[in-house]
Amino acid sequence: MKKEFIFLGPPACGKGTQTDKLAAFLNLPHIDTGSLLRNEIAKKTEEGLIAKSHIDKGQLVPIDLVASIIEKKLASDECKNGYVLDGYPRSLEQAEKLDIINANIDINSNVDFKAIYFEIDTQILIDRIINRQSCPVCGEIYNKKYKPSKFENLCDKCNVALKTRDDDTEEIAKKRFETYYEQTAPLVDFYKDKNVLYRIDANGTIEEVWTRLLDVINL
Ligand code: AP5
Repeated sequence: MKKEFIFLGPPACGKGTQTDKLAAFLNLPHIDTGSLLRNEIAKKTEEGLIAKSHIDKGQLVPIDLVASIIEKKLASDECKNGYVLDGYPRSLEQAEKLDIINANIDINSNVDFKAIYFEIDTQILIDRIINRQSCPVCGEIYNKKYKPSKFENLCDKCNVALKTRDDDTEEIAKKRFETYYEQTAPLVDFYKDKNVLYRIDANGTIEEVWTRLLDVINL
């Protein structure tokens, strides 16, 4: 059975942290649209320049740009046993697009599709955002307060200097929350109506959330 997971939840609710663990645990590819877009920005491609102009304002990047990246990935051999998709879809239009992509690629497959929604008290999220760091080489996510690296500002695995995301300022984070509630939050009902929505209490430590996530995926 092919396993397909998508994740919903506000910025910094822990999607990246948990989806990275889940993909390794299930031996499935972790497809994270935020990181894919930041790679394009780092390479200074045309797509990257367009993406940056939206990410810096806390807005969604235009649908066609993201859909073309996602469509190629999901149709690739890497995803033949399924995927852990983090950061897509983020609007009703993107969710409808994902339905079309999946209908095309899964024509001969039995699929177990789950939309996992991280429910969380939002007042703690700004604190997580302004303390986030990540490794520019392996992508490991750290937090100065909640998941510090062993040696300050150095990745535990790669020993290179950790980076702070350009959109992890308090000002841009507030815009990202507005965008989330306007455009992404309605997807909770979209997937509930399809009977594929699984809610997780995303409050608590990384390990507590991981245990809850494993309970849900083993359903
Ligand atoms: P993206 O990179 O996807 O950002 P996001 O959705 O805002 O999510 P975050 O990465 O901020 O948070 P997260 O939930 O992954 O939390 P994390 O695990 O890192 O997207 C960035 C931008 O790209 C968007 O604003 C948009 O412009 C664009 N974009 C992306 N996808 C798009 C799409 N489909 N369409 C259009 N535009 C798109 O955790 C956060 C911090 O908290 C970390 O420091 C972590 O260590 C810590 N932490 C995690 N869990 C816990 C815990 N349980 N307790 C304490 N600390 C924790």
